[in-house]
Amino acid sequence: MKKMENATISKIMTGEHNAINSLLDELWINLDNERAKAIFGKLKWMLEKHFYLEEKAIFDLYTPKNDKDLLEVAELVKQHEELKALFVNIGEAIEHNIKPDLRVFEELAKRHAKFEDEIFYPKLDLELGEEQKAKIIDKSREIINSYYKAIE
Ligand SMILES: [Fe+2]
Ligand SMILES: [Fe+2]
Repeated sequence: MKKMENATISKIMTGEHNAINSLLDELWINLDNERAKAIFGKLKWMLEKHFYLEEKAIFDLYTPKNDKDLLEVAELVKQHEELKALFVNIGEAIEHNIKPDLRVFEELAKRHAKFEDEIFYPKLDLELGEEQKAKIIDKSREIINSYYKAIE
């Protein structure tokens, strides 16, 4: 695989979060019309792959060095589960042509992504060795490339 110069875990994941936020904005705008179902489907796919990417390419390859770091990862995984559950409810409402309330999901999603963007991923970029970082970045790119191909 071609090496990307200056790639960092933070940059890759911020790019992912921005893509998710754009889709969420698009969903807000289209909640009242027939496009909601298609946008919801795209967002669902994006979120599932994003969580998979984080859990398989990052959390699994990262060795927390103390209890605090370990608890941080556990909390992030717990929030993924909460976000998935909230998202199932939103999907059910859309499926039944009921306008869903996105606010609780959005609030948690933004808080979660802010922590990852501002604290968690910059810490990984700073603390991990070059080899481990390269491994995470390669694995992330592999997953990202395969799922973008799948939705094209
Ligand atoms: Fe996450
Ligand atoms: Fe994330």
